[in-house]
Amino acid sequence: MLSKLFLVTALASAAFAASNCPSKRATPADLQHANFWFAFGDSYTARGFSTTGTIPAPGNPMGNPAYPGATGVGANWIDFDTVEFNKSLILTYDYAVGGATINGSLVAPTLKTRDFITQVNDFEGQVAKKPATAPWTSKNAMFSIWFGINDINNSYDKGGDRGAFSDTLINQYFNQVQRLYIRTFVPCVPPIYRTPHMLTKSQSTRDLQKSVMDGYNYRLAVRVHSWASQHPGVKAYIWDANVSFNDVLNDPKKYGFSNITSYGKKGDFWANNFHPSSQAHHIWAQDVATVLKDTVWL
Ligand SMILES: *[C@@H]1O[C@H](CO)[C@@H](O)[C@H](O)[C@H]1NC(C)=O
Ligand SMILES: *[C@@H]1O[C@H](CO)[C@@H](O)[C@H](O)[C@H]1NC(C)=O
Ligand SMILES: *[C@@H]1O[C@H](CO)[C@@H](O)[C@H](O)[C@H]1NC(C)=O
Ligand SMILES: *[C@@H]1O[C@H](CO)[C@@H](O)[C@H](O)[C@H]1NC(C)=O
Ligand SMILES: *[C@@H]1O[C@H](CO)[C@@H](O)[C@H](O)[C@H]1NC(C)=O
Repeated sequence: MLSKLFLVTALASAAFAASNCPSKRATPADLQHANFWFAFGDSYTARGFSTTGTIPAPGNPMGNPAYPGATGVGANWIDFDTVEFNKSLILTYDYAVGGATINGSLVAPTLKTRDFITQVNDFEGQVAKKPATAPWTSKNAMFSIWFGINDINNSYDKGGDRGAFSDTLINQYFNQVQRLYIRTFVPCVPPIYRTPHMLTKSQSTRDLQKSVMDGYNYRLAVRVHSWASQHPGVKAYIWDANVSFNDVLNDPKKYGFSNITSYGKKGDFWANNFHPSSQAHHIWAQDVATVLKDTVWL
């Protein structure tokens, strides 16, 4: 029930009001009608976007690389949401990178890569100043943040007080949210203890990972709600990735899957030993669209 996708909306704020300089460059009319989505996360969201490559624009709403991007699994949820479940023109800047953690010094990433902090730096170095090519405002921009998968996967077995460690992770997480603040959309950690990678481990190891993951998700949900209530004008939408994944994994045939333990073949839920298939991502995209149905995006 907790930890649905969080979409937090803060309306006018000093930082945004400060950047009202008129644009010198004429912008195409359709760009003026675009809504913006800035995404941060790991491989579950990444599509290989480069800040120095082609930028999102009408007709090419995710910029680079070409759709569906370098996801490793085919089109992912944010691909589907941007071009299929969208109910407006969405220009998606996806700063997510495979293997990423919240803070790479706190939990080493699975791959040496750009953590949440660095991804927010990427955003600040690119579109935060609202160039004419990305005329976003507090009303037409959304931030999605999906972190915790690698943080938990790479630290659940370290012993000590994992709950206290989750608090540390979430504090650092919100240090970054504070830098984005207008709208933030946060899925919780899905049941990674059910990935083929974890199925090769003992039941007690999987149980341990589940309990650490649940602790993180409960804390995240509490924190997002308190954060939203402390910021007037903030609105939170939550997608419970844990429930969505478990629903499908508990009744795979209903969702068109024939196997939830093997991977990479037609009918398999998993694309590889740690990532859901594109067919599963299509379900997540639909779930996200349901959660965000009262917004301009989906
Ligand atoms: C959805 O996105 C596609 C790709 O950018 C765009 O062509 C289409 O017009 C959008 N749909 C709506 C209803 O705006
Ligand atoms: C990242 O984690 C390290 C190690 O705990 C810490 O020293 C550093 O301050 C953190 N960075 C940020 C931006 O929170
Ligand atoms: C996390 O998942 C990846 C699979 O992508 C695996 O290679 C890695 O060893 C995992 N970390 C732990 C501690 O199990
Ligand atoms: C995640 O789903 C599992 C299985 O339904 C459940 O046991 C667990 O409590 C859920 N975790 C959270 C944080 O809601
Ligand atoms: C899933 O695939 C694996 C590997 O091919 C197989 O061992 C297992 O029996 C399959 N499960 C089902 C429910 O078909």
